[in-house]
Amino acid sequence: MISIFGLGFVGITTALYFAEKKNMIVYGIDVDKKKSDKLSEKKLPFYEPKLENILKKQLNSNFFLSSNIKIDINRSKYIFICVGTPLDNSCVYGVNLSSIFNALDEILEKIDTSIFRTIVIKSSIPPTTTEQLIKPYIEDKGFVIGKDIGLCVNPEFLREGHCYDEIENLNRVIVGCNDENTKSKMQELYDNNKDDKIYYVNYNTAEFTKYLSNSLLANLISFSNEMSIVADNLGNINIKDAFDIIKNDIRWNECEMRNYVHPIGKYGGYCLPKDLNALYNVSKKHGFNSRMLKDTIMINNELEEYFVKKIKSKVDQKCKIGILGLSFKPNSDDIRNTASYYVIKKLIENNYNNILAYDPISIDNFKEAYSELKIKYIYDYNEIIEKSDVLVILTIWDQFKNVKSISNKEVIDFTHKI
Ligand SMILES: NC(=O)c1ccc[n+]([C@@H]2O[C@H](COP(=O)([O-])OP(=O)(O)OC[C@H]3O[C@@H](n4cnc5c(N)ncnc54)[C@H](O)[C@@H]3O)[C@@H](O)[C@H]2O)c1
Repeated sequence: MISIFGLGFVGITTALYFAEKKNMIVYGIDVDKKKSDKLSEKKLPFYEPKLENILKKQLNSNFFLSSNIKIDINRSKYIFICVGTPLDNSCVYGVNLSSIFNALDEILEKIDTSIFRTIVIKSSIPPTTTEQLIKPYIEDKGFVIGKDIGLCVNPEFLREGHCYDEIENLNRVIVGCNDENTKSKMQELYDNNKDDKIYYVNYNTAEFTKYLSNSLLANLISFSNEMSIVADNLGNINIKDAFDIIKNDIRWNECEMRNYVHPIGKYGGYCLPKDLNALYNVSKKHGFNSRMLKDTIMINNELEEYFVKKIKSKVDQKCKIGILGLSFKPNSDDIRNTASYYVIKKLIENNYNNILAYDPISIDNFKEAYSELKIKYIYDYNEIIEKSDVLVILTIWDQFKNVKSISNKEVIDFTHKI
């Protein structure tokens, strides 16, 4: 049996993975009552294709919302922590770890150590956090790691919009642990699935691997964005063609990584901005000021200024601007750190007051999160095209590919998709 603290993208996907694929009993715990209530109605609190069907099947079958945390964690051999670790520059390394410590407090207060239970940290935490902060915190409360309880870092690599695929095909598991008892418990948990690729490493390596991965992805996007601006300034270069040709280099073959070698516009969402920021800070605190990470972050942060400058150079303030795309990436309703917010905000500050906005699934989330923006939301794709004078594409949704073939409106495409 397993208990899981935090029922966001990572917690729910993890819970349903063990319930569905490993046929294990899983108890879910979340401090957000609205989220638990929604889940209890068999509805996901976010958009994730196909995952809701597994929830419908597994809720109250193998997956239960906890009604008594103490009982449920003491039924469990594994206690997963999947809570949020948001960006917060007032905290050490620029990441707020309070939810991790709140969950730990709750676990350590209630845990019965008469049998060996393992705490598994799935949340992304900056390298050295477990070794320097979490392990001493647990030991200060009188627990001996490896004897009373197990402690392991098991970072998550899922992609929002593809959570179901992660359940179907878990192709990489990283287990970071520094003692043999924890390792053998994690082997019991994962090793019976022979298709999984499991890597046993120490805490620091497990944490670093997650940040290495996100830094690489962010670097590829920022490199591509920067090159698209170089091309734009040189003039008369078809940026989409140039990147399509680059991606057909045989060395990429059919690998999905090619998708990151594309000037899609600002990378946003929850993970890349905060993880890059944290890795930069942790490295700086350990004596190395990484120019590569710093520039990747700056290129991303400065992109919206460039977008607004470009729109201002092409579009009169009186024009009706139709924004296409509000989520930070396609196939997701996640609007955290989305480029559309910054661009719309800055356009309004520059007296562009005729702004319309459309997204296939994210309008309601965007409206709620950014209620200060005075713009008109249009729920129909054809209607926004008809009502706008100029269209600005900010999220690389497939739906927008046909925009030029179905209208003769001017299109400014910051995703270089069309
Ligand atoms: N979203 C992704 O694509 C992704 C991918 C890999 C790793 N991660 C990492 O995984 C972690 C979780 O990400 P997410 O996207 O699932 O976050 P999320 O914000 O969607 O969900 C986190 C959940 O934790 C809950 N929570 C907070 N404190 C709690 C506590 N003390 N006890 C119980 N529940 C608590 C919140 O209410 C929330 O529902 C983060 O560290 C993130 O960086 C996210």
